[in-house]
Amino acid sequence: MRGIRKSFPGVVALDGVSLEVRAGEVHVLLGENGAGKSTLMKILSGALAKDDGEILLGGEPVSIPGPREAHERGIRIIYQELNLVPHLSVAENIALGREPGRLGWVDRRAQDHEARQRLGRLGVEIDPRAPVGELGVARQQMVEVAKALEGEPRIIVMDEPTSALTTTEIHELFATIERLTARGVAVVYISHRMEEVTRIGHRVTVLRDGRHVTTRAISEVTVAELVKLMAGREVTEHFPRRRTPPGEEVLRAEGLSRAGVLHDVSFTLRRGEVLGVAGLMGAGRTELARVLAGADRPDAGRVLVQGRPLAARGPKDAIERGLALLPEDRKTQGLVLGLSVRANVALPSLPRLAKLGVVDEAGESELAQRQTDDLRIRTTGLAQLVGQLSGGNQQKVVLGKWLAADVDVLLMDEPTRGIDVAAKVEIYELMNRLTAQGKAILMISSELPEVLGMSDRILVLARGRVAAELQARGATQEQVLAAALGQAS
Ligand SMILES: Nc1ncnc2c1ncn2[C@@H]1O[C@H](COP(=O)(O)OP(=O)(O)OP(=O)(O)O)[C@@H](O)[C@H]1O
Ligand SMILES: [Mg+2]
Repeated sequence: MRGIRKSFPGVVALDGVSLEVRAGEVHVLLGENGAGKSTLMKILSGALAKDDGEILLGGEPVSIPGPREAHERGIRIIYQELNLVPHLSVAENIALGREPGRLGWVDRRAQDHEARQRLGRLGVEIDPRAPVGELGVARQQMVEVAKALEGEPRIIVMDEPTSALTTTEIHELFATIERLTARGVAVVYISHRMEEVTRIGHRVTVLRDGRHVTTRAISEVTVAELVKLMAGREVTEHFPRRRTPPGEEVLRAEGLSRAGVLHDVSFTLRRGEVLGVAGLMGAGRTELARVLAGADRPDAGRVLVQGRPLAARGPKDAIERGLALLPEDRKTQGLVLGLSVRANVALPSLPRLAKLGVVDEAGESELAQRQTDDLRIRTTGLAQLVGQLSGGNQQKVVLGKWLAADVDVLLMDEPTRGIDVAAKVEIYELMNRLTAQGKAILMISSELPEVLGMSDRILVLARGRVAAELQARGATQEQVLAAALGQAS
């Protein structure tokens, strides 16, 4: 790709970017949230039209007017925001966009068989008949990967493929990537997880503010250098947790059970504390958060907020009692994409902002502005629609809206997923500030360094049960993993 330009109203997303990708390499594309990574890849995959520049495949200039042409040329992309059809089955999603059999017949058996085989090759077992919408984000991600491997791919773009995956699945994905590159397929890999970059990347290109900064062999740069190149400044201190003595108890779970997902889960959370929740995919972490937030009802057990049981009246009661959930899947649960940044941030604060039923617009703007400043959300203004922000910046809006809502307990499900390295540190700083103000945080995270670095205590779940409760200080990744795998330590 040479001299690629792309503008959106009010922003230059790509300002003459060039990218050269070789057969058989894993080319990592790095950059802060909003740097232009997804936009560049959407142009390659025909999802977006470029304003200027050229694309060459095997040295030949090509035009890629749409996704179909990209597909025909062997370009596959796994989008950052998953693109599956929720009410269709796994097998149907994998087969989607391909020609049906003769006479327009769809052979369901063959379709299911193929889906099962492909997923099997990725090392995952998923029922091909299950509607995709009923799968967790991680499993949906694996379905996307299986779908991308269809036909004879030449270039596969993976836009943050591991953001929803846990250790074992990441391992399988990396094995798949190695098989692909060995066959000469080029992989463009976008991730904010620096340890992955050095593990599987051959070369790396850094983008900043829509410009090409550098392209290097991974073996020639350090992570610290890359972070600095991305941010354009020095970024220090990865996990700046400042622990404070905890205050009174704000949240207590007593024997929470839910058929098939949670078994007798109990814990307490005190003011000023960060309780990390670790576990493998399917361990019940997200289910726990949903029960705590009143989104799902427990079959047994109860949730107490400041000593009083939470009424089983759904999320509304939890919010009124000062409990907020930052969901794992913000695309469907956290944001209204067709509304402005201002409206999204202010949404949960409306009862407080409305005087006699009339929303105080100046107050709304002030509130939204404070959050966009604090979290450095990259927008053209508060009126910009959330759907037009980059993935990481959408994520920051979800955080901003609950931070603004002034709740006592924040249930964060993967709070830094898709967030760039520098912005992660800002979110950690915010967590410090919130706990210093006496708020309590329950943080579910698949990133062990984050769990160890930012928690005070760690609850490890395995198959819906509490496998261990550890003090974070002095705990090791091995200890947490062993507990998560259900091994006695
Ligand atoms: N459809 C759109 N309308 C308006 N602006 C857009 C649109 N899509 C992207 N942008 C803007 O283009 C810029 C680059 O966005 P892009 O999604 O490429 O960033 P990114 O590098 O992928 O970031 P992230 O790491 O957060 O995913 C951002 O400022 C974004 O707000
Ligand atoms: Mg992106």
